[in-house]
Amino acid sequence: MIRRRVNPNLLMITFAILTTTTFFFLSSAVLRSANTFGRRCLPELDEYFDDTLKSNLKIAIVSFSDEKKAPRGRSFEGLMKLVGVNKRNYAQKMGYDFVDGKWLVDRSRPPNWSKILAINFYLDSYDWVFWNDADTVITNPDISLESILMAAIGHLDFHASPDLLVTEDVGGVNAGVFFIRRSKWSKEFLDKWWNETSFIKFGSTKSGDNAAMKHLINNLCLEDLQSHVMISPMQCLFNSYPWNPTWKSLYRLLSSPQTIWKGTYSRGDFMVHFAGLDNKREWATKVLLGIKR
Ligand SMILES: *[C@@H]1O[C@H](CO)[C@@H](O)[C@H](O)[C@H]1NC(C)=O
Ligand SMILES: *[C@@H]1O[C@H](CO)[C@@H](O)[C@H](O)[C@H]1NC(C)=O
Repeated sequence: MIRRRVNPNLLMITFAILTTTTFFFLSSAVLRSANTFGRRCLPELDEYFDDTLKSNLKIAIVSFSDEKKAPRGRSFEGLMKLVGVNKRNYAQKMGYDFVDGKWLVDRSRPPNWSKILAINFYLDSYDWVFWNDADTVITNPDISLESILMAAIGHLDFHASPDLLVTEDVGGVNAGVFFIRRSKWSKEFLDKWWNETSFIKFGSTKSGDNAAMKHLINNLCLEDLQSHVMISPMQCLFNSYPWNPTWKSLYRLLSSPQTIWKGTYSRGDFMVHFAGLDNKREWATKVLLGIKR
């Protein structure tokens, strides 16, 4: 009689797949509920939610979207129509301005580079510019920009503030959502950024503007870095990424669990940014519907 033997390799593979799948589902569930598991993006929440935290800071939310077809189907088409309302409403409620800098787009470079021109233009009329890539949605309109600045900087004194407030993801500094203060240093930084022409890349999902910003920041001397640039200890303070269950995300989770924990979108976060994701309009629609509930 021939007994069928179970192939041990097959068993191992099945076991590995089961473990990975379980881990995947569990980690997704935990990450998506990070805030209920005690993560704090905005420290001492109650204090910063205080309505008396008003300042006379003039703040503009600046954004634009290039409605043309982007490389590899990563289209921003129709996105501004969706998120523009979200941002305009928020700005109106909080007493900020929302401006669409589309008219400043310089066609000689990939459109993302023109954020530098738009910020440079509007920075003269405001204390702070809060730059938003178009693939972002404000998910908690009860949080003010002042409380975000306060949480990161520790005070709202315009003259004693750093010039650039950014977040970091697994790839380092992200140029998609950040605060920049009106100052001589900032204007010069924007000029230098625009001048980093060797980073310009056509026909790729990466246009090089983020790499150029990283390069500039990485090459600042320690003194400059400490007095002018602030990196938020929590990415989710104002630049959360949605959890997208792919092998790439799993790899990132395993290699940089802390960074992923600090940056994954969870209910209650201020903003979600569909960085690196395709079909942005679908993502935005889903999120906007979720907020209305
Ligand atoms: C940027 O380039 C322009 C033109 O070459 C130059 O005039 C300007 O000084 C440069 N700005 C900085 C900050 O390096
Ligand atoms: C422009 O920025 C968006 C938002 O961060 C990014 O997803 C997109 O890939 C960028 N596009 C290009 C062409 O770099």
